Amino acid sequence: MNFIGQHILSVQQFERADIDRLFSVADMMEPYARRQRLTKVLDGAILGNMFFEPSTRTRVSFGCAFNLLGGEVRETTGIQNSALAKGESLYDTARVLSGYSDIIVMRHPEAFSVAEFASASRVPVINGGDGANEHPSQALLDLYTIRKEVSGQGKSIDHLRIAMIGDLKNGRTVHSLCKLMRLYNNLYFTMVAPAELQMQQEVVEMLREAGHTVVVTDKLEESISKVDIAYSTRIQEERFASKEEADRYRGRFRLNQSIYTEFCEPNTVIMHPLPRDSRMEANELDNDLNENPNLAIFRQADNGINVRMALFAMILDVVDQVDSHSRSVNWYTNR
Ligand code: CP
Repeated sequence: MNFIGQHILSVQQFERADIDRLFSVADMMEPYARRQRLTKVLDGAILGNMFFEPSTRTRVSFGCAFNLLGGEVRETTGIQNSALAKGESLYDTARVLSGYSDIIVMRHPEAFSVAEFASASRVPVINGGDGANEHPSQALLDLYTIRKEVSGQGKSIDHLRIAMIGDLKNGRTVHSLCKLMRLYNNLYFTMVAPAELQMQQEVVEMLREAGHTVVVTDKLEESISKVDIAYSTRIQEERFASKEEADRYRGRFRLNQSIYTEFCEPNTVIMHPLPRDSRMEANELDNDLNENPNLAIFRQADNGINVRMALFAMILDVVDQVDSHSRSVNWYTNR
């Protein structure tokens, strides 16, 4: 695909070659993402960062990524703080905001709402998460992280064994990651969830049709032995009818250091899109894993900057100008 001027709404837009190109640009962004060099390649450009649902990482890292390319960021957070609360349509909102911005990132609680918004936008729109549907930039940074983590073990993405754990029905990150990983070869997926929260059948079928093995189970311990990646997810309380209903599943699958030591291989990489639910009744990834060198969750969050910088640079067609608009930083940095 040609990234220039494109909306990014679903990972199903990508072929494997597109991902390779994006990851090469993400690698190129490393000195800028780590604040070792500065670039002003997007000096004067404006990102509309429209988050109509709570976010910490996606909103701030998209904003930082744009700032690190030299651009400015304008934000809306929460439906209640926008004219959507007064009955304005997504069409009108998109027509207006796309007159104020060069590119827009949008998160919204309704599935397919970002696509509806994009159809009325005059500038490229990146899906920052639409309900339980998709979270394409998270899947890209997850896959970028997987590639980095396993390459240190002499492995590639092909032939990996992955356990996905938690609320697989409502978790948009795992939906997007599975759809993206279908492009690779001979993967072995174990979907660990209560029956009511299992991975959508259409995603399971998509993976099987692409030649991958998919095992569906509600047993954690036996599922995380012999896997390269254990990808945990939070119970998506905001998608349930009530807190009480979510409580029925919270804390069902907990990974801590003693379970890791007993059941995982010594180099199993632990991932989570974050936020992890650290409340006692959930505690899906225990704090006692924090010093485990295979806990990749914070490297994963850091990688979001590289991948989101790469998306902006490719969509706005400035990849070849990044270095020529750069200089070294003039402040203290220990990165
Ligand atoms: N992973 C992720 O989407 O985190 P936020 O909800 O904090 O953006």
